[in-house]
Amino acid sequence: MKGNAVGGHTPVLVREVCELLAIRPGDVVVDATVGAGGHARLFAEACGSAGRLIGLDVDPANLALAGENLRDCPCRVDLLHDNFANLRAALGSLGVQRVNVLFADLGVSSTQLDQADRGFSFQRDGPLDMRMDPRLKVTAADLVNRIKERELCDLIYFNAQERAARRIAKRICQARRDGRITTTSRLAQIICGALRVDPNSRRSKIHPATRTFQALRMAVNDESGCLTTLLEIAPAVLAPSGRFGVMAFHSVEDKPVKLDFRQRKNERIYGIVTKRPIVAGDEERRANPRSRSAKLRVAVRLPDDGTEGA
Ligand SMILES: C[S@@+](CC[C@H](N)C(=O)[O-])C[C@H]1O[C@@H](n2cnc3c(N)ncnc32)[C@H](O)[C@@H]1O
Repeated sequence: MKGNAVGGHTPVLVREVCELLAIRPGDVVVDATVGAGGHARLFAEACGSAGRLIGLDVDPANLALAGENLRDCPCRVDLLHDNFANLRAALGSLGVQRVNVLFADLGVSSTQLDQADRGFSFQRDGPLDMRMDPRLKVTAADLVNRIKERELCDLIYFNAQERAARRIAKRICQARRDGRITTTSRLAQIICGALRVDPNSRRSKIHPATRTFQALRMAVNDESGCLTTLLEIAPAVLAPSGRFGVMAFHSVEDKPVKLDFRQRKNERIYGIVTKRPIVAGDEERRANPRSRSAKLRVAVRLPDDGTEGA
């Protein structure tokens, strides 16, 4: 099973996601990060004409792509411009209380990274924005130019485990005295200067600005806060035997998923479907470099009496 690229985004671990979520005809499926609709298209086919697909995304541009991609789906489709942290209210607005499948494919999509004017990428010059949801008020430029050095250092360290956070924060604060930092290329240059690395040299496997950009993006979009809320509310929205899949792309987002699933297993709320996280095979890693860091975890909601059955 192959997920076709939609609007430039190739969905990751498509076969594994579909197998492990085990969608049945008639299921109500929530894709909490519908993006361009690559995974969702397959979910819609699996739940069929008796099923229902509900897709959420904070990015209206991606929602529009999903709308096109899901136009002729067999099932009822509802696409909502909403944050998955508001999932309960979003489902309430549709008169849905419990769902059979809940899936989140975290982070940004290639469609967002590829648009220079969204400001997500150090490889494309653009305004330092990074808002996935255009309704948000604070951009990456606001953070970089306004917050104290200590706060900036913590933000970079805790959101991306960047060991050079202190050096980078210091250099950013020095540089902003010469004028507001407003573009991705200027920020990338400042980071390379702080680390004394030429981004074109092959010394490091990843671009020196990768972690700092990730950290800022996570802060602008409150990605950790939203994930924490999703993990908190998931048991209440999952029907007994309902499956919950989360795909993460770095340890700062995978770790809370691992710990949450483990704790709820001990509380007999979840059974763990993936004893170890599922990762992409060699072929997929070669074909789609983004898949290299993906980790998929799936849990199953146990009935309220904690039995395995149903
Ligand atoms: C990796 S992409 C998903 C791609 C999708 N699975 C596909 O096949 O096209 C992640 C998407 O999640 C969205 N997103 C990120 N955080 C979100 C949140 N808290 N609530 C809703 N959508 C979110 C992003 O805007 C982006 O479109």
